[in-house]
Amino acid sequence: MKVLVTGASGTVGGRVVRRLSGDGVTVRAVARRPGSVDVLREHALAGVEPVAADLGDAAAVRALFDDVDAAFLVTANVADQLAQEQAVIRAAAQAGVRRVVKLSVAGAAPDAPLALARVHHAAEQELAASGVAYTLLRPAFFMDNLLQFTPWIEPSGRLALPLGDGAVPMIDSRDIADVAAVELGNSSAGNRDLRLTGPEDLTAASALSRIGEVVGRSLQYVDSTREDFLRRYLADGNSADYAQDIAELYDGILRHGYGAGTTDVVREVTGHQPRTITDFARERAAAFTR
Ligand SMILES: NC(=O)c1ccc[n+]([C@@H]2O[C@H](COP(=O)([O-])OP(=O)(O)OC[C@H]3O[C@@H](n4cnc5c(N)ncnc54)[C@H](OP(=O)(O)O)[C@@H]3O)[C@@H](O)[C@H]2O)c1
Repeated sequence: MKVLVTGASGTVGGRVVRRLSGDGVTVRAVARRPGSVDVLREHALAGVEPVAADLGDAAAVRALFDDVDAAFLVTANVADQLAQEQAVIRAAAQAGVRRVVKLSVAGAAPDAPLALARVHHAAEQELAASGVAYTLLRPAFFMDNLLQFTPWIEPSGRLALPLGDGAVPMIDSRDIADVAAVELGNSSAGNRDLRLTGPEDLTAASALSRIGEVVGRSLQYVDSTREDFLRRYLADGNSADYAQDIAELYDGILRHGYGAGTTDVVREVTGHQPRTITDFARERAAAFTR
């Protein structure tokens, strides 16, 4: 089996590539920047063919599907995200792939308050109309999101975010990849819509405290305002639209407990329990102790 993986240098796509390679699957691993493709080449994972392509280029996308049996679709939250997803879905249908596994988001809907959730919904509609069998993966919040904020942790261990005491079933990206790997090998014609969660609802305060226990450093959550978050997130180089969307997600939605509640889907699909925040912290300890 040969699987096309987009976003192969990213958080989830990178995990999917590793997992498939470990399972002996042949992978065409797509990233956009030549530097990202070079890194994939340096990893020299068994059966992995790194390829540079811009998903905004429909002809280039069609060429990626030569001899491909199934595709993992993940795109970044960028201005032309929907066009990128449509290009991949149309090329997949044209190539007659067996299944597309698409990374979507919990709460994707036409009237969702978040632009990114509306975009995912529109892409799902395209996929449903394409005739290709599909699996939708719907996590709410990756544990890995916390890594981008480690430079914000003060020497005292305090980290300020606008999440209040909202709890969300944070998931380790390794579990998303594990589910994706199983679904990519699913040869049935049925479509699947999977709400993926970690094993428990976590507030930012409890997540940080648990990570701190693992890494041997006191980490404390401090509540911040949307304005303070936006100022810092923009200073990190995020686009204005994306920063507004994430500020709304954190302060307007997750703060109020949206998305709480776990499912058993990771265990049902993979046969193992979803990883805990302690498991995540053990793997990524170095990032929290710098
Ligand atoms: N974070 C969360 O909690 C969460 C929850 C639910 C759903 N999601 C969804 O997850 C997705 C993001 O996944 P992620 O965090 O794994 O992504 P990520 O780490 O941001 O990686 C983005 C990937 O997309 C590639 N890419 C960007 N623009 C491209 C283009 N024009 N053509 C080809 N490749 C391109 C990047 O390649 P380069 O390295 O070459 O730039 C990289 O491999 C989003 O759709 C988001 O809505 C996220």
